[in-house]
Amino acid sequence: MSAEREIIKEYSNKELTVIWKPKKCIHSEECVKRLPEVYNPDRRPWVMAENATVDALKTQIEACPSGALSYKIMGEESKEEVYLETKVEVLENGPLLVYGTLHVTKPNGAREQKNKTTAFCRCGASQNKPYCDGSHLKSGFKG
Ligand code: SF4
Ligand code: FES
Repeated sequence: MSAEREIIKEYSNKELTVIWKPKKCIHSEECVKRLPEVYNPDRRPWVMAENATVDALKTQIEACPSGALSYKIMGEESKEEVYLETKVEVLENGPLLVYGTLHVTKPNGAREQKNKTTAFCRCGASQNKPYCDGSHLKSGFKG
């Protein structure tokens, strides 16, 4: 388990709560492209879950490439599933995406389990290494 506290933001409509973990967000803006009526980084709050149906939210949340988004329904947290197949994808000008359940050991010996998708920094600018925190956009990383 990591000693760092994870920041978690929640945005609810009556049935579903969108959970966003900013440190995992790689700012690909897939969410904004798929449901612009819900996600708008220029608005506060930037997520308005009441602007889409539960089904539309679930489909879009499952497409979040970094796993920064998840949801719970009626107080029941969506299960962090264990994925046995591991796949690796290099995102152009962005992180290395590793799909599957991983056990990551940090330089200080702290271990943590990652499920679904983990984005590893390739640009060197992340403040949350070894993970991507979206800083590749600001640093103009190409590669
Ligand atoms: S990583 Fe997920 S939450 Fe972050 S911008 Fe992309 S789709 Fe949205
Ligand atoms: S690749 Fe995203 S912060 Fe480095």
